[in-house]
Amino acid sequence: MKLKSLLTTMLLGAVSVAANAANDIVIETDNTALVYSVGDNGRLYQHYLGKKMKNPADYTAGPRGGEAYITHGMEDYFEPALHINHPDGNSSSVLKYVSHATKALPDGAKETVITLADDQYPDKVDLHFVAYPRENVIKAYTEIFNNGKKPVTLDKFASSMLHFDRPNYYLTQFNGDWISEARPSEIELKFGKKELDTKLGARANMFVSPFFQLALDEPSRENAGDVLVGTLGWTGNFRFTFEVDQLGKLRVISGINPYFSKYTVKGGESFKTPEFIFTLSNNGKGQASRNLHDWARNYQVHKGNDDRMTLLNNWEATYFDFDEDKLVSLIGEAKQLGVDMFLLDDGWFGNKYPRHSDTQGLGDWDETANKLPNGIGRLTEEAKKQGVKFGIWVEPEMVNPKSELYEQHKDWVITLPNRDEYYFRNQLVLDLSNPKVQDYVFGVVDNLMTKYPDIAFMKWDCNSPITNIYSNYEKDNQTHLYVDYVRGLYKVLDRIQAKYPDLRMMMCSGGGGRTDYEGLKYFTEFWPSDNTDPIDRLFIQWGYSQVFPAKTQCAHVTTWNKSASAKFRTDVAMMGKLGFDINLHDLSENDLKFCQNAIKEYNRLKPVILDGDRYGLVAPYNSNHTATMYVGKDKKQAAVFAFDMFPLNVEHLTNVKLQGLDPNVTYSIKEINKSDATSSHYANYSGEYLMTVGLPLFSTSRMSSRVYELTAM
Ligand code: DGJ
Repeated sequence: MKLKSLLTTMLLGAVSVAANAANDIVIETDNTALVYSVGDNGRLYQHYLGKKMKNPADYTAGPRGGEAYITHGMEDYFEPALHINHPDGNSSSVLKYVSHATKALPDGAKETVITLADDQYPDKVDLHFVAYPRENVIKAYTEIFNNGKKPVTLDKFASSMLHFDRPNYYLTQFNGDWISEARPSEIELKFGKKELDTKLGARANMFVSPFFQLALDEPSRENAGDVLVGTLGWTGNFRFTFEVDQLGKLRVISGINPYFSKYTVKGGESFKTPEFIFTLSNNGKGQASRNLHDWARNYQVHKGNDDRMTLLNNWEATYFDFDEDKLVSLIGEAKQLGVDMFLLDDGWFGNKYPRHSDTQGLGDWDETANKLPNGIGRLTEEAKKQGVKFGIWVEPEMVNPKSELYEQHKDWVITLPNRDEYYFRNQLVLDLSNPKVQDYVFGVVDNLMTKYPDIAFMKWDCNSPITNIYSNYEKDNQTHLYVDYVRGLYKVLDRIQAKYPDLRMMMCSGGGGRTDYEGLKYFTEFWPSDNTDPIDRLFIQWGYSQVFPAKTQCAHVTTWNKSASAKFRTDVAMMGKLGFDINLHDLSENDLKFCQNAIKEYNRLKPVILDGDRYGLVAPYNSNHTATMYVGKDKKQAAVFAFDMFPLNVEHLTNVKLQGLDPNVTYSIKEINKSDATSSHYANYSGEYLMTVGLPLFSTSRMSSRVYELTAM
């Protein structure tokens, strides 16, 4: 390999490999280091990405890796990170190191900015790295400056480029569709390119989640091996490119999908990419997920360290078929159940075109008079009376062609001027690149909040991808639409957050069509899937848990899969942000009692489940059983959830070793959440015993489940 590499270097006529130690740039967390060095040619190279070492000189003792941010048009033959078209027709760039600076951020993170510039063109590129020491997470993004007078166009503008030189690479992607989100599959990467991308614009993650796991050397394992987990914070088209070259080296390029997104940067202006967020674990996927969960709660998710509200949602209980009386009675049911909030879903608005189905009314945000003669106010009053909070569904980025909004403002709609319109869920997307549309979308929320200040929560839905791609606003810059749409959305969400800092919101997109960390800066939680069958949910929630903490994943008890007991359905939902989407009369008296008790247990265990560390004990894939546990940060309390999905009647069942406990502490173990709403003492064991010998968590009863609470004695 070394000889091959030397030959290639000679063939390419590349310059000296020596690094200039004075210019080594070390970006470190408590466990990871990403190190760059400057070659004699003045260009910047990734020198090291791996475990943190004691002696910084060791980072550059070995050979350097690939160029940090490879540009189009020069001596590299594979996918570049950057492609700038200059006004004179020259589309090549050579970036040379100019300077770097590191500063501590007020939140404890450390930011390093490396400045590169082209000495033939007035282009400057800042590579930003924000390192979170304790969480072992690094955020990378890039700002591309056009310091010339004339505009340049960007064909490619990656957030980040990382290089690896390992014997083998294994990529896990998470893809699916409506009601089958976040299904993992792992492949070995060989020569050539693998891309994970989306071109859906809005509802961007319908087919693929914006994150991946990259296991180095050997296939990924839960608790061993080097795994890099990366995700892009961008609520729109993303692309991850994994390319293995002829020498077996891998580059990973992450950013906005450049598909139909050539972007013009005027003289004196810049283009800032979204953030690529990654963690490198030397102890497998489990540790990587806990790193991201901690980082997300501490730094990224809106109100990441605050409590979450349990709720009763009326969507599956009523769909569009409700009126004031029905809702008032459901608000009473929320109280009876013991949840914190009632959430009114789709179907409450539109008068010329009442929203009786998904075919009309979207865009007309006034209450349907014959359904809600006394408006939302009657409902917020009732909620107040019952002592529950009130939440409401909106889908403000979208419009039905059968709506007053469409009739009045066709120019606000993304639709091709000279072609027949085609629809996804009978609707179209509003053009958020247009500031007037941004004002309108902000106004939907602002008007509701002004009129009904008691609204505590919004479920913000987005059921269509961008279809009929044409902007009446962008005119000659049609290729800006995908990017400017998302930027417009953030402008609206910034305004909402500034004016209503206490408003909590759920990011929803026809199930899990929007699941990214930039979105979660504005939203307290997301709706992972419309699929609430508890068996399917065990898979879906496991998938998302690789990147997102339980606190952000809404999990509702519904009537999907009635052959599963209310206990089974509730136990599954208790592993996320618990809610109910059910008519209480669909529950037997005993089940209602069970659910009421489960909510109390959940409230008690929230600090463990929502803010503790998650350990995936037995994955549901290729298994008849699955188990997950959550351990409180002080290791004094833990909750273990064990599920038998479809076991055989006779199976060799073995103990499951617990994880994350204090080996020196004895834990008292209680089975809680029993179907008769009781709990019982199970045993006392040391943490060491539980992690070495384990517990017989599983049974051969189909769709049965158990929840154990462990308390340090
Ligand atoms: C899609 C969402 O995922 C559902 O939960 C529900 O809110 C419907 N939209 C309403 O139209």
